Amino acid sequence: MISCREILRKTEEKKIAIGHFNISTIDALWGIFDAAKERNLPILIGASEGERDFIGVPEVVALVKSIREEHDYPIYLNADHTYSFERVKEAIDAGFDSVIFDGAKLPFEENIKITKQCVEYARSSGRDVLVEAELGYIGSSSKMLDAIPEGASLGDMITKVDEAVRFVKETGVDLFAPAVGNIHGMLKGMPDPALNIERIKEISEVVKIPLVLHGASGNSDEDIRAAIKAGICIVHINTEIRVAWKEGVQEHLQTKPDDIAPYAILKDARDHVKEVVSRKLDLFSKPP
Ligand code: G3H
Ligand code: ZN
Repeated sequence: MISCREILRKTEEKKIAIGHFNISTIDALWGIFDAAKERNLPILIGASEGERDFIGVPEVVALVKSIREEHDYPIYLNADHTYSFERVKEAIDAGFDSVIFDGAKLPFEENIKITKQCVEYARSSGRDVLVEAELGYIGSSSKMLDAIPEGASLGDMITKVDEAVRFVKETGVDLFAPAVGNIHGMLKGMPDPALNIERIKEISEVVKIPLVLHGASGNSDEDIRAAIKAGICIVHINTEIRVAWKEGVQEHLQTKPDDIAPYAILKDARDHVKEVVSRKLDLFSKPP
């Protein structure tokens, strides 16, 4: 099976992006896989600390691995937003393909220190585990928002080019997630703030490693396309998946209120997730 690192290299060459989609349940995993397989596109499955605690850490690894092997398919598992070295270590030991140490709320030097520790551990694991880190706080919940998350790095507070260079150089990370106007979650009834495409381009040109766009739910298609063109290689979607999942369950229970079979109810959740992921994959994989 081609490695996740190699898939990323090919993606970068084509100037398209890989979709990263979060799951809390197996029906959502199937919905994401259905969409990817129809298009024959590689995918990253994200499981944040809360999501993987719900499924089970070894269990989510086994699930993704079993799909990869059964279908001989490039589907990879990322330990999304991990807030301590101990949990990064746990994910690497459990068999995740990539990990994100999220020190965005920490002081700069502290973020560098722990990220470095995570990179060293990944390199000593004997497997090719990719390590990503974040610089700039963009909120922490994949939910519908009434307002911009407090303390989010927007406007003048977005990730600075010189800090990005120093951070990437000193930590040795494989992937870098800057704050470039993006926010986790999605504003209710209005579009999310515009992305700073120029800053993505400036950072991409100097750090020379793949950039990751978090919090892409709620961003316009045009902004996402421009971000990919400017150097984004992985795009994270979670909130829009959660909304679709809930709508699937709600619609099913409204039309068939007497149904109690989880596999029937959750089939609609799976189909709704598939629909959202299909749209996103078409957008991310469109050649420039
Ligand atoms: O890591 C997860 C993503 O950054 C999700 O962001 O909830 O805004 O789609 P989102
Ligand atoms: Zn994120």
